[in-house]
Amino acid sequence: MDIKALISQLTLEEKAGLCSGADFWHTKAIERLGIPASMVSDGPHGLRKQDEKTDHLGVNDSIKAVCFPAASATAASFDRAMLTRMGEAIGDSCQHEGLSVVLGPAVNIKRSPLCGRNFEYFSEDPYLTGKLSAAFIHGVQSRNVGTSIKHFAANSQEHRRMSSSSEVDERTLREIYLPAFETAVKEEQPWTVMCSYNRLNGVFASENPWLLTDVLRKEWGFEGYVVSDWGAVSDRVAGLAAGLDLEMPSSGGFNDKKIVEAVRSGELDEAIVDQAVERILNIVFRFTENAKPDTPWDKEAQHQLAAEIAADCMVLLKNDDKILPLQKDASVAFIGEFAKKPRFQGGGSSHINCFRTTSALEAAEGLPVFYAQGYSAAKDSATEEQIAEAVIAAKKAKIAVVFAGLPDVYESEGYDRTHMRMPECQNRVIEAVAAANPNTVVVLHNGSPVEMPWIGKVKAVLETYLGGQAVGLATVRVLYGDTNPSGKLPETFPLQLEDNPSYLSYGGEGDVAEYREGVFVGYRYYDFKKAAVLFPFGHGLSYTDFAYSNLRLSADTITDQDILTATVTVKNIGDRAGKAVIQLYISDKNSSVFRPVRELKGFEKIYLQPGEEKDVSFSLDKRAFAYWNTALHDWYVEPGDFTIEIGHSSRDIALGASVTVRSTVKIKRHYDMNSIFMDILADPHAAAVFEPILAGMRAAFLPADTEQTDAAKEAITEEMGLAMFNYMPLRSILSFAGEKADPSLLEHLLNTLNNE
Ligand code: BGC
Repeated sequence: MDIKALISQLTLEEKAGLCSGADFWHTKAIERLGIPASMVSDGPHGLRKQDEKTDHLGVNDSIKAVCFPAASATAASFDRAMLTRMGEAIGDSCQHEGLSVVLGPAVNIKRSPLCGRNFEYFSEDPYLTGKLSAAFIHGVQSRNVGTSIKHFAANSQEHRRMSSSSEVDERTLREIYLPAFETAVKEEQPWTVMCSYNRLNGVFASENPWLLTDVLRKEWGFEGYVVSDWGAVSDRVAGLAAGLDLEMPSSGGFNDKKIVEAVRSGELDEAIVDQAVERILNIVFRFTENAKPDTPWDKEAQHQLAAEIAADCMVLLKNDDKILPLQKDASVAFIGEFAKKPRFQGGGSSHINCFRTTSALEAAEGLPVFYAQGYSAAKDSATEEQIAEAVIAAKKAKIAVVFAGLPDVYESEGYDRTHMRMPECQNRVIEAVAAANPNTVVVLHNGSPVEMPWIGKVKAVLETYLGGQAVGLATVRVLYGDTNPSGKLPETFPLQLEDNPSYLSYGGEGDVAEYREGVFVGYRYYDFKKAAVLFPFGHGLSYTDFAYSNLRLSADTITDQDILTATVTVKNIGDRAGKAVIQLYISDKNSSVFRPVRELKGFEKIYLQPGEEKDVSFSLDKRAFAYWNTALHDWYVEPGDFTIEIGHSSRDIALGASVTVRSTVKIKRHYDMNSIFMDILADPHAAAVFEPILAGMRAAFLPADTEQTDAAKEAITEEMGLAMFNYMPLRSILSFAGEKADPSLLEHLLNTLNNE
């Protein structure tokens, strides 16, 4: 299709019209030119295709579909290949249903456990988020269906989401809030990017030229179209000029007219409208010209896939006395309503109308399992009778498994949580059951961290996150050892909400939400602080054990243009087959800027039989070592030594090896009369000029040992004198030289320092 030729035949009104939706889910068709409408749908972890009553909040029904685990869960898999398989399955269902774009993945960073949409987001870590979302996009788009990576950008709270401004400094944006989008765009070219509702540093994301054009297109090379989050447009003309191509859903023609007027009045260049239309039509035709409506959608098979995925996402947080896996002939009490009616997805636009769900109780059919309800999730209560029944069941059984977590109303799109606690009634049930049976296991269903006041009283905790419609099947497989758990926490579980780094400013004051903790989000903060946490980032147990050895690097010294290969040997030293997640962190040994103690820069997941061992290699490029330098406005590797670490979590580092990295980028420094000695001496070139001058000054300033009185020696040691020297500005040379002061010499010195 010659899209440019097509555009030349469109009227201005038609072009403006194509820049917004026909309705909630379709782009506009122009029949006289054979331009078809194309349909998009939520997303991200299954289809929410609405045939009739439409909305963007998950209020009205959609077609029956398959609900895969939400991103909170899939992130815990640390498994790119699995995310790709899930994407392929969703891509197939889109082809079957004629959907050109699935609205996801959602990749906003988990700044606080309170964000209502954390269940839909991946992680507190940008590297993990970027790689997993890219893998998902790869899967969907391999089926010739587009994705819409969202919500671009810095949309880490639901509170006042359509008016709040995320105030984020340059380095924090680049290191924490943008990289997931950057990775996905550079590696997988999502067909579309969805801009977020919020403002970024005062400017709505939907009309932010720096974000939508300078960074997204010019720096990263994005080729698709930018779509607004549903209703995110404030000033349509400013938005179009900034790079927002498609407004969704529609403005009833109101904003289309504004575009026409702006072109007619000369405020907006028509070429910008043409460009947006071209980007939109490129995608519309990319889908329709290759549509495969015959693609089967085997929901049963996808239900099984959802179970397989959910099982591989579960995180075994605690397992004292190896109480898990359960024996299949042991009498077990399943206590808690979630055993019968699991909570497996969150509320809002991602809410899926499941064609089937499997509870743990159904999945355990045939096993000696009995049930007590314990509490009512909808009523958020536990009656005395329910607790008494739970206690009787717990006493009767060898092992008591309490199914608990967060009811629907606790976390959803559209609002944030106000605390991190589980319902009081559920905590009471857990306490009562644990008091009645020392062998108590807790299975959690929640999209984000919860406080666990009972943690010391139970033997095991299995975190299922929001595991999708087959969560019950997956839970039983993991509890009984058919699947060996291999999930790792993609976020820190703090002991209490107040420990979280964003606690002091989360949510903001009115519409100003300052991201004051800067780059110290999640484990980047807890590890720097050496703060106690409930469970650290990357933590997750297995029914077997893995040993790491022989970490070797391809070089001792590299430049920032080289690729370093790190290889480690992993061995299954237990007696069960299982999957290991190998986490690679990098730590800058002495940085002149504040940096996290360590940052995740690689991860791999492998399957090993008992006794089997494999080598795992990681390629590390400049970005693995760099931080965002605000003077250069670019990534920069500060020359020096770095440690490559292999860990079981960010708090459990097994191996480390050192590498020296040289920078090929020279930072030009400028000195003036207020530059201090220490900074001049830290710069090898300047130090060479300055050292001899300083030596003379030192001799003058610090009298020779023999000339000092004892009292003077006590008052100021040589060390102290030198330390004070460090912070002296160049101008102090004049003050201390007294009569010998010669400003022209100092001028000369400055010129020499600056000119080379
Ligand atoms: C959400 C998006 C979603 C869109 C369409 C918005 O409210 O923020 O994530 O894709 O609605 O349902």
